[in-house]
Amino acid sequence: MNPTDGTRTGRRLVVTGSRSGIGRATATLAARHGWSVIGLDLAVDEDGEQSDDGITTFPCDITDESSVRQAFQRVDRAWGGLAPTALVHCAGVYRFKAAIETTAAEWDAVVNLNARGSLLVAAQAAERMLIAGEGGSVTLLSSIAAVRGDGGEPSAAYSASKGAVISLARQLAVEWGPQGIRCNVVAPGVIDTPMTTVSHSPEIFAQVLQRIPARRLGTADEVAQVCLFLASEQAGYVNGTVIAVDGGQSAS
Ligand SMILES: NC(=O)c1ccc[n+]([C@@H]2O[C@H](COP(=O)([O-])OP(=O)(O)OC[C@H]3O[C@@H](n4cnc5c(N)ncnc54)[C@H](O)[C@@H]3O)[C@@H](O)[C@H]2O)c1
Repeated sequence: MNPTDGTRTGRRLVVTGSRSGIGRATATLAARHGWSVIGLDLAVDEDGEQSDDGITTFPCDITDESSVRQAFQRVDRAWGGLAPTALVHCAGVYRFKAAIETTAAEWDAVVNLNARGSLLVAAQAAERMLIAGEGGSVTLLSSIAAVRGDGGEPSAAYSASKGAVISLARQLAVEWGPQGIRCNVVAPGVIDTPMTTVSHSPEIFAQVLQRIPARRLGTADEVAQVCLFLASEQAGYVNGTVIAVDGGQSAS
């Protein structure tokens, strides 16, 4: 595989979950804006892949510490040892299940993937940024589920995991801020991606729309625009914050 040209614009972005939904939209948008982009995703084989728009994707399972470490070592090789300028961590999983029926194993699977996975990926990116000494940006994905309960599609493990992502990001912002590494959170509402199940039931879909002032689902690109802003120099003084991209749902 050809190494991605990490020196073309001097802006190098690692995007997890880049094979689908918000991660894919973020990777594509960044590549269009001249960033060198490397995706990490469970859904690629060992060789990795190179897309037509120049995005390299390496396999990575964010639930597995050694897989995350190995994936970042491949990133190092692809960029000739240059650190990422930014990370947008989109890999995640959603399961809906009534709280009373949620088993310990189901809780662990969702919380470990969404919360612990965020730490593992962010730490690998930040370690490289800290060594390079040029600062950087880490963006984690939470959800409206962190701040609003959901009676229609209850998902206790998911909601708790996304609350943990916000707490984690605030901690990272304070730990790494003095070295110029910003850490922020994007909290999407209901976005039209393969993860979203509300549209499978017309009844639930109608109820969901009633709760969204915009009266529509968001698009992956609308979330990607905010992720890329946070990754960019334009957000240079934005640190430790949560930006909702939810059509006004969290305000209602
Ligand atoms: N879609 C929404 O409505 C919505 C709302 C709020 C928050 N979010 C959050 O935004 C992020 C992206 O969601 P999306 O809608 O694009 O989801 P998606 O299901 O379309 O994409 C998720 C990606 O993560 C990858 N992935 C899953 N498990 C992985 C693992 N163990 N290791 C590495 N990669 C893995 C998948 O292969 C996939 O490419 C998630 O964190 C999600 O919780 C989404």
